[in-house]
Amino acid sequence: MSEHDESDTLQDFTPEAADARRVVVLISGNGSNLQALIDAQNHDALGGEVVAVISNEPAAFGLTRAREAGIDAVVLPHREYESRDAYDGALIKVIERHEPDLVVLAGFMRILTPRFVQRFLGRLINIHPSLLPDYQGLNTHARALADGVAEHGCSVHFVTEELDGGPVLMQAVVEVAEGETEESLKQKVHAREHLIYPIAVKWCLEGRLQFSGEGASLDGTPLPPHGLRMSHADAAEELDEDLEG
Ligand code: GRF
Repeated sequence: MSEHDESDTLQDFTPEAADARRVVVLISGNGSNLQALIDAQNHDALGGEVVAVISNEPAAFGLTRAREAGIDAVVLPHREYESRDAYDGALIKVIERHEPDLVVLAGFMRILTPRFVQRFLGRLINIHPSLLPDYQGLNTHARALADGVAEHGCSVHFVTEELDGGPVLMQAVVEVAEGETEESLKQKVHAREHLIYPIAVKWCLEGRLQFSGEGASLDGTPLPPHGLRMSHADAAEELDEDLEG
């Protein structure tokens, strides 16, 4: 190769898109959190690329969101499998075909088998609509209201074999207003979910947030049991920096 050829080659060099960190998102329904991740990606604020969206529900609206964004949308109906284990085995295969760095649960309404959890341990995260460890499980907003709590919110956590019990990475708190209804509280919490989930995904992809047997850490420092509390201002600032930078 002549010197001339060589310099041409170097000038033409552009970083490979293949280096982008890969994210697979699992959904069962509306997919508004998925949309928040797609929007962040479109603003270069996700630190990676959603390469596939998988739904166990064929009618999930999130599949449409994925297709509209040009993302591979896969339907894997659980009803076609005889057992939870058979389904999770198939799900593992589909996910691994996409070689993800991170598997993100975004309203995926299934209990996962230990085999599944172990396969992706440390790179499997979920968002839950409560301030964990309070209100694990379903109907979180109604239960919080019935208890008359002053604060409620959402949590991003690593998924372990304990349902909604893995180490918390990040939380956002909302105040429960006078006369709050289940619907208004749900909307408030959802809005905060959409702010913190893309940030948590980005920091996981960057290796800033990590899982160890002991719990979760940020930049090598162990996080408290409630993870990092993100105020609205903190989250907005973080997103702004990404948009500017
Ligand atoms: C969210 O409330 C999330 O916390 C929970 O499931 C819901 C999913 O909503 N895990 P969407 O499908 O992202 O709109």
